[in-house]
Amino acid sequence: MSSDLASRLREGTKQSHTVVENTAFMQCFLKGVVEKHSFRTLIANLYFIYSALEVELQRHIAHPVVGMIWFPELHRQQNLEQDLAFYYGENWRQEIAPSQSTNAYVARIHEVAEVEPVLLVAHAYVRYMGDLSGGQSLRAMVRSSIQLPPDKGTALYEFESLPTAEARKAFKGKYRHALDSLPVEDDLSQRMIDEANYAFELNHNIFHELEMDVKAAIGEDVFNLIVSRHNINSTNSDTRNAKPGLMAMHQ
Ligand code: HEM
Repeated sequence: MSSDLASRLREGTKQSHTVVENTAFMQCFLKGVVEKHSFRTLIANLYFIYSALEVELQRHIAHPVVGMIWFPELHRQQNLEQDLAFYYGENWRQEIAPSQSTNAYVARIHEVAEVEPVLLVAHAYVRYMGDLSGGQSLRAMVRSSIQLPPDKGTALYEFESLPTAEARKAFKGKYRHALDSLPVEDDLSQRMIDEANYAFELNHNIFHELEMDVKAAIGEDVFNLIVSRHNINSTNSDTRNAKPGLMAMHQ
């Protein structure tokens, strides 16, 4: 069975993608204003989210749909542990706690896993395809903005078995192919798109929480200047063609 789930997910979440990439937090990031404290808080929150997601994906590995998008090379939990040890030190487990929005995100992942596990596909799609795409630009910005020792601090965005842009691009093709091979009917595809949009919203809430920290660190005037610039839209094909610089980082 073959479907167009991959392109339906892409089209169906385009607007949500534009909203998250234009959040003040992401805009500061892309303009090189990365505040170390907010970044490590983001890493800590993502640790709770990926831990929940990966536990549930593993638990449903025998599920006829979820099992088909189980790709251990994508898993982020161990990479996040390395980043946390770097930013918080050996006792990082005692130092970190999930924010309110993170708790809501984690609760949703567990809820979906209980009630309709097939929707875990939507959560995996939003995070992993994001890390493989825009995440690569974010990695470059973090590394050039914060003074980081070589090989430390951005393991979140590093895929050991996909070390080059070509390898990541090929993998994204494989992932899209896997999505298209899932045995899902039309109404289920629509529920997946709805859940993916909700996952974008849950990410948005976390970025919004972190914006307060960034604003406090850089001052309200600089913050307002950064976020007042015109919006970008990376998943729109026309805009992508007009932005060779940005796209070069993803390919
Ligand atoms: C400023 C931040 C971001 C930038 C610049 C950005 C950029 C991009 C670009 C250029 C692509 C297209 C890659 C391709 O066609 O192969 C993409 C895809 C994607 N991004 Fe982002 N992104 C950002 C933030 C995010 C965030 C925060 C998420 C999720 C929480 C996300 C989720 C995705 C997903 C799921 C796709 C795959 C779309 C598809 O189905 O092809 N992105 N991003």
